[in-house]
Amino acid sequence: VTSTPKVVILGASGMVGRAWSLLLERERIECAKPADGHFDLKDPRSIETFIPKGARTVINCAAFTDVDGAEANEAEATAVNGVALGPLLERCVQVNARLVHYSTDYVFSGDAREPYKTTTPLAPLGAYGRSKAVGEALIANSRCSTLLVRTSWVYAPWGKNFVRTIAELGRSRPELKVVDDQRGRPTSAEHLAATTYALVKRGASGTFHVTDGGECTWFQFAEEIVKLTSGTASVKPCTSAEYPRPARRPKYSVLDLSETEALLGPMPDWRTNLRDVCGRLSS
Ligand SMILES: NC(=O)c1ccc[n+]([C@@H]2O[C@H](COP(=O)([O-])OP(=O)(O)OC[C@H]3O[C@@H](n4cnc5c(N)ncnc54)[C@H](OP(=O)(O)O)[C@@H]3O)[C@@H](O)[C@H]2O)c1
Repeated sequence: VTSTPKVVILGASGMVGRAWSLLLERERIECAKPADGHFDLKDPRSIETFIPKGARTVINCAAFTDVDGAEANEAEATAVNGVALGPLLERCVQVNARLVHYSTDYVFSGDAREPYKTTTPLAPLGAYGRSKAVGEALIANSRCSTLLVRTSWVYAPWGKNFVRTIAELGRSRPELKVVDDQRGRPTSAEHLAATTYALVKRGASGTFHVTDGGECTWFQFAEEIVKLTSGTASVKPCTSAEYPRPARRPKYSVLDLSETEALLGPMPDWRTNLRDVCGRLSS
């Protein structure tokens, strides 16, 4: 007799979705993963089809994540990261499933001098942050049981991310210039999935922040990546003004971890998680 899996991962092919897939496989927890090209978060019928009765936990890792692309295509970003949450929350209420959802440090303005608390008012600088804030507002006004996890600067041994890009460039370029005036917290996708899972097991609901411990600038992050991957490039600091991008980035986006750490203990330092991931990057 085959039963319906109680866990559904949306966006399982993405960076965080893949970490969740591997984690649940290790835990021997059966899960459903709607395949790319079949599932569209923007389509309520698709949501109904892929979140069957019997689902107990829906892990939403699907999102429009192209921060610069969102500036030119805010409607699409808002449709996926914002408006789609309406039918998703409704479906979760209907089948009595809890929704685990991810949001971002980019919902904050970036001008703080101390870590952003889970309760700090949102003030996004750009289209991506605004689209994620729309999703957060729908969650806040829903009666669905929800675990909302904000995270930042996510990397993994797979997918398109800063660590893999810098590891590659650190071997192929003589010099790298990296911005030294944006400070935040890197986050290993595997640590993020494992910590979210620990929160789920504790029955946590509401908003939590999950990142690696410690903080750094992108320049410091890049220096450490090049060192850990035996790169030969010399890494030089530069300012955001020297490296203009379509979307404005927060200068300071350190997320306060105190509520998560009170439940689960200290988050491992970013250098520790980075060493582990760099050790598994294929050269
Ligand atoms: N990466 C970061 O640094 C970071 C930082 C803070 C927060 N977050 C949040 O963490 C979560 C996971 O991010 P990630 O880095 O794992 O993203 P990702 O690697 O870009 O993966 C996103 C996934 O969503 C899928 N997707 C996009 N549009 C969809 C749609 N309309 N219907 C169904 N699936 C769709 C993608 O499929 P296709 O590839 O087929 O489009 C992909 O599988 C997101 O909520 C993101 O906002 C990420």
